[in-house]
Amino acid sequence: MAATVISGNQVAAEIRAELTEKVKDLKAKRGITPGLAVILVGEDPASVSYVTGKAKAAQEIGILEETTRLPADTSEADLLKLIAKLNKDPKFNGILVQLPLPKHIDENKVLYAIDPIKDVDGFHPVNVGKLLIGDPYFMPCTPHGVQQLLVRSGNDPAGKHVVICGRSNIVGKPLAAILLQKEKGANAIVTVVHTAAKDISYYTRQADIVVAAMGRPNTITADMVGDGVVVIDVGVNRVNDPTKKSGFRLVGDVDYEAVSQKASAITPVPGGVGPMTITMLMVNTVRASEIQNK
Ligand code: GUN
Repeated sequence: MAATVISGNQVAAEIRAELTEKVKDLKAKRGITPGLAVILVGEDPASVSYVTGKAKAAQEIGILEETTRLPADTSEADLLKLIAKLNKDPKFNGILVQLPLPKHIDENKVLYAIDPIKDVDGFHPVNVGKLLIGDPYFMPCTPHGVQQLLVRSGNDPAGKHVVICGRSNIVGKPLAAILLQKEKGANAIVTVVHTAAKDISYYTRQADIVVAAMGRPNTITADMVGDGVVVIDVGVNRVNDPTKKSGFRLVGDVDYEAVSQKASAITPVPGGVGPMTITMLMVNTVRASEIQNK
């Protein structure tokens, strides 16, 4: 039987509607407008597209958003100066530096420079550490979005075996930390598999829920999963497609056609995890404004 399609567009719209109401309330009752500063260095096409999406979502929800676009040859020192200025600017409750950064800039140095109370990406070591000890302040947006997709589609991970493929700092590692928490909507048994595994399918076949986050197209195939599995595809890969005006189309890390014949539920690409990432950034920005105005 074909799988239920978990629509990230639908879940994201639901959360954005809740946020829009909350922002209206914050403005009317307390005179607070949540503010988000986004920094984009260079012109990587995927990054430009994400940043544009962030600005649009913020505008729709009523969040003040300002994007600073800097040339690719911006020095690390100048970027750090801008972050220091934004850390002090009360207009902005959240600061996000779009990754990846050009090679000549030390990414860690930049992420460490953001005030943890404005770190709406949840990448600062203070926030990574707080999440790991079960006292999260901001949770990273993509893995937080994955959790919300599971919970809001009726696939609560509690007590389930979740196999995460990929160990990046942006998705795999923080998702493991989120789902391990002894909390509602978490409390999962988590396995993280990565490139050192001789046979990834040995692990994925035992999963109730598979999360594909390795960044390689069509890597999770039907023979690698069990019947009735729930599949969350975090992959966003551009593959050449001359029939498209852009010259490419987006595919995930999962062989969607074949796997959806075996799974009980699956997220599509596009329209799955993608819209959730930006939505959870908005959630974090509103949360930041509430905390900073306590
Ligand atoms: N690049 C890809 N994903 C992300 C993300 O979640 N945050 C930032 N800042 N950059 C990214």
